[in-house]
Parts: sequence; C-alpha cells; structure tokens
Amino acid sequence: MNLVVGATGLLGSEICRLLADQGKPVKALVRPTSDQNKVAHLESLNVEIARGDLKDRSSLDAACQAVTAVISTASSTLSRQEGDSIQAVDLQGQLNLVDAAAAANVSQFVLISFPPVDVDFPLQDAKRAVEDHLKSSGLIYTILQPTFFMEVWLSPALGFDAANAKAQVYGSGENKISWISYKDVAKFAVASLGNLAARNAVIELGGPEALSPLEVVRIFEDLHGCKFDVQKVPDEALRAQRESSNDPLQQSFAGLMLYYSGGNVIDMTETLQKFSVRLTSITDYAQASL
Ligand SMILES: NC(=O)c1ccc[n+]([C@@H]2O[C@H](COP(=O)([O-])OP(=O)(O)OC[C@H]3O[C@@H](n4cnc5c(N)ncnc54)[C@H](OP(=O)(O)O)[C@@H]3O)[C@@H](O)[C@H]2O)c1
Repeated sequence: MNLVVGATGLLGSEICRLLADQGKPVKALVRPTSDQNKVAHLESLNVEIARGDLKDRSSLDAACQAVTAVISTASSTLSRQEGDSIQAVDLQGQLNLVDAAAAANVSQFVLISFPPVDVDFPLQDAKRAVEDHLKSSGLIYTILQPTFFMEVWLSPALGFDAANAKAQVYGSGENKISWISYKDVAKFAVASLGNLAARNAVIELGGPEALSPLEVVRIFEDLHGCKFDVQKVPDEALRAQRESSNDPLQQSFAGLMLYYSGGNVIDMTETLQKFSVRLTSITDYAQASL
C-alpha cells in the first residue's frame, strides 16, 4: 500500500491518479476540511481514503499502518486551514509524518522539496530540516527537489496571464530556470517507488531546457502572435517585502520570488539515464494555452 499525503493538492492528486492507473494500491490522507469534490474524485479513482492531519500525530500513526511507501507532497503555503502554518505543517507536521512512518515500519518515504537555494526564508528552513530528519530516520528516503512548476509560476495566479497577453516576472527576468511540469514531478515520484536509483537519494528535478522568464514570454508571444505587457517586480521590492513582514508565509512567498529571480538551472542528463520520463517543454505548455 502506498500512502499519499497532500493527495487533494495539485501534485498529490496526479500521483494518486498515476498509481491508480498502474493498478497500484493507494491510500490518500484527506482532512475533514478538504474540498469534498477532490475527495470524491480520489474515490472515483478507487483510492482508499484515510482521514487525518499532519498536525495530529495519532491520525498519521493510523494512516501509516500496513503501508509500504509514503509520498508526501503536503504544504500549507497555498492550501491552509485555521491552525496551519509553515511551522505547524511544513516543519512539525512533516517531522510527525516521518516519525509515524518509521514507527509503523514503512519501507520508503518520498518527500517533495525543492533545491537548496542561497536565499533565507522559513519554507526553505522547514524543507531542509525535514530532509535532514528523514535522512537520519532509518527509512529508505527519496528526496525530490523540483524547481518551479510551470503550471503554477506561469499561470494567472502569479501574474502570468497568457490569455490577456500580460506577464509579471520577478527580478530582471534574465536568469534561466529549468521550469518543470508538476505532471513530470508526479512521474518521478511514482517511478521512485522501490527503485534502486531512488534509494537514499536526493534528486534535483528540472525540465528539458533552461529558459529565462523573458525567453518564456517570447515563446508565448510567438505562439499567440502578439506582444505581452511585461511587468517586472524588482529584487529590492521583493527583499523589502520579505524584510517588512513578520508572517513566515509572506516571507516565504518573497523568498521564493527572490529564488526565481536568481534563476535555477538543473542538468537532467544523469537523472534521465536512470528514469525514463519524457519531460514537458515550455513550448508544449505554451501550445496547450492556445
Ligand atoms: N509550486 C511549485 O513550483 C513547487 C516547486 C517545487 C516544490 N514544490 C512542492 O511541491 C509540493 C506540492 O505542491 P502542490 O502544488 O501540489 O501543493 P497544493 O496543491 O497546495 O497541495 C497541498 C496539499 O497539502 C495538504 N495539506 C496542507 N496542510 C495539511 C495538513 N495540516 N495536514 C494534511 N495535509 C495538509 C492540502 O490538503 P487540503 O486540501 O486538505 O488543504 C493539499 O492536499 C509542495 O510540498 C511544494 O512545496 C512546489
């Protein structure tokens, strides 16, 4: 049995779909407050439902019973309820889950994180602390560190609005990023299960090519046949946003944008020799937006 924590989220639901598609047993941790349509969708895939919350250790102990692998994609950054915070969920909640998995003799734990970056913010502190705890837990660990999901960072929610020919970019827009599709991250997570290449491994994940945000805009402009209105958010504004806030979530959003501004290039050559995943390109993604 595979337990997916974060199963109602963008990435977790795709992982559940892939596992169910492959006929692999899958159980999803959902909360009483989770969107009932998302829970119903998981049920329609024949996914077993476990009720629980990362803040409630006993619910995690119950969910981990008779489980071979845990995949955790959960995060409070976008999907949060009262009582959720980076400290309570992304840090303490994930530590609880690692401990519950170890206590229940789970074999493998797949954690979704992101690559270490030279920018300080609470979400990064939480991810690094959970990674360290997982590495010393005795569980077989697989830490996947994808860069930026194209479907999130190149979407209207973050100011990249192709339908209205508008693009907000963070920083100069000139530093390259190996944008990745969350669907490809899901494929790596599933391919990691029971895979020797993923045994006690930390794997950075990026897409097939590194492109600066301005290069991405040009690809969209060519396909849409019009100029985009580009707004740049300068680093100074992002740093001011991070420094002026006492809220770890706001500090983390600003930190992530500073990370984007600095760019992040991942060489996938070695990883693709071990995992056969066809990576989605920005052109594939831009074509789908037409
Ligand atoms: N977006 C990116 O570009 C990017 C890049 C690299 C890494 N990542 C990482 O990828 C992961 C997946 O991201 P995503 O976009 O799939 O996130 P998402 O759509 O916001 O999903 C978050 C999930 O976490 C669950 N969750 C939140 N608080 C919880 C709690 N207290 N107990 C149990 N579950 C809880 C949510 O459940 P409810 O539905 O019940 O709220 C939801 O299922 C995250 O760890 C993120 O840090 C993202």
